[in-house]
Amino acid sequence: MKSHEIRSSFLSFYEDRGHRVVPSSSLIPADDPTLFFTNAGMNQFKDVFTGQAVRDYSRAASSQKCMRVSGKHNDFETVGRSARHHTFFEMLGNFSFGDYFKREAIASAWELITKTWGLDPDRLVTSVYEEDDEAAELWKEIAGLGDERIYRLGKDENYWSMGPVGPNGPCSEIHVDFGGGCGREICDPSCDCGRFLEFWNLVFMQYETDAEGNTTALPKPSIDTGMGLERIAAILQGVDSNYETDLFLPILEEIARRSGIAYRPFVRGKEQEAAADEEMVAMRVVADHLRAVTFLIADGVHPTNEGRGYVLRKILRRACGHASRLGLGAPVLSELSGTVVELMGAHYPDLERNAERVRQSIEREEKAFEATLAQGTELLGEVLERVKGEGGSEVPGEDAFRLHDTYGFPLEYTVELAERRGLSVDRAGYETALEAQRERARASAKTQAAVPELPTELELEPSEFRGYEETQTEGCRVLALVRDGESVETLSSGEEGWAVLDRTPFYAESGGQVGDAGRLEGAGGAAEVLDAQALRPGVTGHRVRVLEGSLQRGGECAAVVDAARRRRIMANHTATHLLHRALKDVLGEHVAQAGSLVEPERLRFDFSHHSAVTREELDEIERLVNERVFAQRPVGRAVMAHQAAIEAGAVAMFGEKYGDTVRVISVDDWSVELCGGTHCDNTEQIGGLRVVVERGVAAGVRRIEAVTGPGLVERLVEDENLLAEAERLLKSPRTEVLGAIERLSDQVKSLRKELERVREEAAGGAAAARREEVAGTAVELRRLSGLDMKALRDMADQARSQAGVGALVLAADKDGKAALVVSLDGTLVERLGGEPARELAMGLAGELGGGGSGKAGLAWVGGKRVEGLDAALEKFPALLGERLEAAAS
Ligand code: SER
Repeated sequence: MKSHEIRSSFLSFYEDRGHRVVPSSSLIPADDPTLFFTNAGMNQFKDVFTGQAVRDYSRAASSQKCMRVSGKHNDFETVGRSARHHTFFEMLGNFSFGDYFKREAIASAWELITKTWGLDPDRLVTSVYEEDDEAAELWKEIAGLGDERIYRLGKDENYWSMGPVGPNGPCSEIHVDFGGGCGREICDPSCDCGRFLEFWNLVFMQYETDAEGNTTALPKPSIDTGMGLERIAAILQGVDSNYETDLFLPILEEIARRSGIAYRPFVRGKEQEAAADEEMVAMRVVADHLRAVTFLIADGVHPTNEGRGYVLRKILRRACGHASRLGLGAPVLSELSGTVVELMGAHYPDLERNAERVRQSIEREEKAFEATLAQGTELLGEVLERVKGEGGSEVPGEDAFRLHDTYGFPLEYTVELAERRGLSVDRAGYETALEAQRERARASAKTQAAVPELPTELELEPSEFRGYEETQTEGCRVLALVRDGESVETLSSGEEGWAVLDRTPFYAESGGQVGDAGRLEGAGGAAEVLDAQALRPGVTGHRVRVLEGSLQRGGECAAVVDAARRRRIMANHTATHLLHRALKDVLGEHVAQAGSLVEPERLRFDFSHHSAVTREELDEIERLVNERVFAQRPVGRAVMAHQAAIEAGAVAMFGEKYGDTVRVISVDDWSVELCGGTHCDNTEQIGGLRVVVERGVAAGVRRIEAVTGPGLVERLVEDENLLAEAERLLKSPRTEVLGAIERLSDQVKSLRKELERVREEAAGGAAAARREEVAGTAVELRRLSGLDMKALRDMADQARSQAGVGALVLAADKDGKAALVVSLDGTLVERLGGEPARELAMGLAGELGGGGSGKAGLAWVGGKRVEGLDAALEKFPALLGERLEAAAS
C-alpha cells in the first residue's frame, strides 16, 4: 500500500462510520499561546473537547501535519539515530466529542488494522494505563487478546496530555511485537530494545488541566487517537524503518545521487549500528529536516532569531551542517525542497502553491549560514589563539555565547572546532549567559502584554457577538468587571478596568483587525471603551474608563461602538482583501499574507515577495483595487462548511483557526477569503485606496501601508497643503514645481562646485604667496588660478589690508587669460607720488602681452600670456625698488 493510499483509506474508513473528514490545520497553532507548533491531531479540536467551542458534528477524522521539536513532545535530538522519530510527521486520527467512547474506539481501530489492512492479529499487543481495567476488559472482549498481550503501564507510557495545560486522559496503545527481545527481566512496550513498535495511540480524553495545574473532568468523555503515518506505512510496506517507506526513500535517493554516497537501510536488530553510522545519520537528518522546513515555510514561518522562526532556523542550520558532512553545500537544500513538494504536494496543495517561495527562503538561509560559518570560524580562531596563548584549556562560556548570540555561530560548531584544537568549552558558563539573556527577554515580554489574565475562578460563557449586524446593542448584562487582575463588583468614576458582557457589538482584536472603541451606557453611569480584546477564546473584554457614575456587575448597559471609527476599520479591512488579491494578480500567486494590521487610520499588509515592488506595479495594484471600488461591487459574506469554502477557492490565512463553519468574504469571485472580521456591504464604501508606503521588513517579506476613504482624504489634504506651500516657496505654479526643483538643485550643484573650487583656490593662493621687503616696505606676491580680473579687483584691497603689507600683487589665470592687480596702501602712494599703482601695473603689461588701467592705489593689467604671470610677479619688487629710489632722490 502506498502512503497516500493508507492516508485515504484511513479517512474513508472513518467517514463511512459517520466521521467528518477535517483538513489538517496549519503547523502554526491558531490563538493558542500554550503551544509552539501543532503537535497532535487533537490540537485544532482542543476547545471542542473542553466544551468552549461547538461544532455541528461530534465525530471527526483527519491527517494532521505535526511538529515535535519543542515543549512536552520533543524528538529533535533523536532524529536521524532513531528509525521512527521525526521533527515533522503526519498523524492520522479519529475523534469523538462526547459521542462514542472506549468501546467503539477500540472496536473500530481493531477492525481497521486487522480486517481492512490485514495486519496479523497474532503479532499485535496493546498497553493500557495500569488503573484502566475497563480498557483491558474491552481488549479481551473485542480483540480476544489474552492477559499476556495486554500490558499495564504507568503514567509515563499510558497517560497522554497535550502539554502542561489542556485536555488529557489515560490512553491505550497498539504495538507490533516482533518477538525476540533483549532478555532483560522486564521487556515490555516501554523497553527501547526494538522488539515492540508502538504505532497507534487511543486517548480516552476525560480531564483538563489549567494553568494553575488544577485538573477537572471534561464535560463529556471523548476520544482522540493518533497514528503516525510514517510508522504505519513502514509496517504495511514491510520495511524496517520509516526512512525506507515511500515517504522518505525518494528524498534519500536524491541525496545519495547528489552526494555519491549510497543509502544504507536500517536493519531491525541492528539499531545501534545504524545509530552510530554518522554518514547515514546525516542523510536521515537532512531528509527529515527538509520535510520540516518545507512544510513550516509553506505554513508561513520565516527563519528569524526568535520564536517559531528561531526553531525553523535551528532545524535548517542543522540540516546544512549534516549536508556539509555529506559534501553538499548551499543551495542543495533549497533544490531538494522540490523533491518534498513533488512527494507531498498532491495531498497538501499549499505546498505546491508556495513551492517557489519556500525554495527561495531556504536558499537565502543556506547561503547566509555559509557566510555565518565562515565569519564565526574566523572569530573563534582568534578566541582559540587567545585561550592557547594564555595557557588555558577551556573556551569561556561567555565567548561561546557571544559567538552564538551575536554572530549566529552555533555552539556545536564551537565545541567541534575547539575539540580539534584540544580545548573544551565551558558549557555551564554558556548556559548561564543564555539564561541571563532569556530572563531579559522575558522581562521585556511581560511589560508588553496588553491583555490581563482573567481570574481563573471566574467562569464565563463566550460572549454573543452582535457586531456583524449592529454597532449598538441595548440591554447587555455585565457579567464580570476586572481591575488589576481581580474580579470586582463595581468600577467607579475615574477607574479603569475590563468589562465582560453577555452580548456585545464590540469586535475584539483578532486576525489583524484592531478592537473597537466606544461607550458603555448604563442607568448608573457611563464608561468610555478604549479597546476590546479576547480575554479568553470567545470572551470579549472591554477595556473601560468610567466617565461618570459607576458600572455594576450584574447591571445592564447599552454597548455603543464608535460607528465612524468602525466604518473606517471596515473599509480598511475589505480593502486589505482586495489588495491581497491585486498583489497576487500583479506580482504572482506566490504572494502570501505574512501579517496584517487593520486600523481606522490605515492598513498594513506584509507579504512574501523577493524584491521591492516598483512604482509601476503599485500603480497597477491600486488601479485593480480602485476599479472594484468604483464598480460598487457588493461584498458577499457567507457562512459555509470549511471544506466547501476551500474547494470554492477561498484563501485561508496561515495560523488562523477555522471551525467547521467559516465566514467567507467575497467580492465577485475575484477576492474570496475566510475571515471573521467586519466588512463593508459594498466596495464603494472603501472610497478609494492609495499605497503610501512600500518597504522590506525581513528577508523576502515586504510591507505595504495604504489609506482608504476618510484616510485617503486626510492624506490628500496633507499632500495638497504640502504642494501649495511648495508652490509658494518656489514661486511656481504646480505644473512647474518639479521643473523649479530641478533647476534649483542644478544651481545648488554648480554653486557647490564653485564654492569647492574657490575654497581650494583660497587655500592654494595662501600657499603660493611670497613676501619680500623692498626699501622698508612689505610686499606680498600671490599666484592664483581660476579667477578673472573682476574677482582679483574685488578682493585686492581687502586682502592687502588683511595681509598687513604696503603692496599686494595678485596674479591669476582663468580660461586662458592672464590678470594681474596691484594694490598699494596710502603711505606708499604718497611716498611714490603720481598714480604709482597704475604706472607699476603698466610696467608689467608687457609680460602679459596686453594692457591695463587703474588709479593711484589700485591698477590692473590683463593679457593672453598666462605663462608671463610668474615673470611679472618676479619683476615687481625690482620695479617698485626703482620707483622708490627715484621718488627719494
Ligand atoms: N493526542 C495523542 C497523540 O498525539 C493521540 O492523538 O499521541
